[in-house]
Amino acid sequence: MTSPVSPRDDLLALDGYHSPQLDVAVRLNTNESPFAPPDEFVERWLDELRAAPLHRYPDRAAQSLRDALGHHLDQPAARLFCANGSNEVLQTLLLTYGGPGRRAAMFEPTYALHSHIARITGTEVIAGERRADFSIDPAAARALLAEYAPTIVFVCSPNNPTGTVEPATTIEALLDAPGSHLVVVDEAYGEFASWSALDLVRDDRPLVVVRTYSKVWSMAALRLGFAVAPPWVIEELEKVVLPYHLATATQIAGRLALELGSEMDDRVARLVAERERIAAALAATEGITTFASGANFVLFRPAGDGHALWQRLVDQGVLVRDFSRWPRLDDCLRVTIGTPAENDAFLSALGTALDELQEVVL
Ligand SMILES: Cc1ncc(COP(=O)(O)O)c(C=O)c1O
Repeated sequence: MTSPVSPRDDLLALDGYHSPQLDVAVRLNTNESPFAPPDEFVERWLDELRAAPLHRYPDRAAQSLRDALGHHLDQPAARLFCANGSNEVLQTLLLTYGGPGRRAAMFEPTYALHSHIARITGTEVIAGERRADFSIDPAAARALLAEYAPTIVFVCSPNNPTGTVEPATTIEALLDAPGSHLVVVDEAYGEFASWSALDLVRDDRPLVVVRTYSKVWSMAALRLGFAVAPPWVIEELEKVVLPYHLATATQIAGRLALELGSEMDDRVARLVAERERIAAALAATEGITTFASGANFVLFRPAGDGHALWQRLVDQGVLVRDFSRWPRLDDCLRVTIGTPAENDAFLSALGTALDELQEVVL
């Protein structure tokens, strides 16, 4: 049916964000934590929620959450902006610093929502290239900024879907590049990496680091992310975001999760160890190329048809993310690190799938 009312012209060509879900036994396609939040956390959250004044709007400044988070990160609360997942943080940044007549630069292949939200907010997308190993070339990036003068530069580190961790020197090169732009480092997977740009945040620097509770903190369903940035950025974001956008239930959960400290550190260590096990097993498999990852997933490229391999994994009840038709990622698949049992299931299904495909070729 033709729609009686059209959306904005510039949205007509836009495709929605798709990450297909299939009903399979082993789901390793969306980079969530394989562990549910600890029972003790859920109990405390429900207790506080029962006592909360649910007929009142939430604390608009999310002050207790920001105080606790600031304490946890060793950052002043004035440098923190919390929202419904880091996607809402990214959207608020683009609504504030992007928009019609402005540009956002990013380095492909990278997290699809950077360009998607940019387009929704009417921001022109400038796509830079990465090197063959998927790292950003600082000289090429500076040339891109000089040519297009974007107001926002996205750096996803560790990069989704490649896992690439950018060094501090690259972030600094982008910050020092001529022009007037915010450098937004998306660290959704920052806890799994060897270093964080959080330490580079200063009140006189146009640097924003974005993080999420969806991965390590096992809270993807509760939707909480945050930005660490100079107060002059935070003040602008607060003007733009809708009032009372962050539910009381989310604010309580975000504060209580911080009290789980060592349990979460332990989960990160276990996932990193499993990541190294998977990466080593993939690297030892004939015909497979792997890319170094500082996240809770590994990108790999089989010698043959990546999509055919993906289908054979699905047939065995293992779902990974299929990037085989993505520009610059021909035949690549990305596996999220799961529990040891899920990872074993993946490796075993992979061996079977590769044998089957080999027989087809012979
Ligand atoms: C790089 C990156 N940034 C942001 C997000 C969004 O996370 P959230 O659940 O906090 O909105 C994701 C989710 O997968 C991601 O991969």
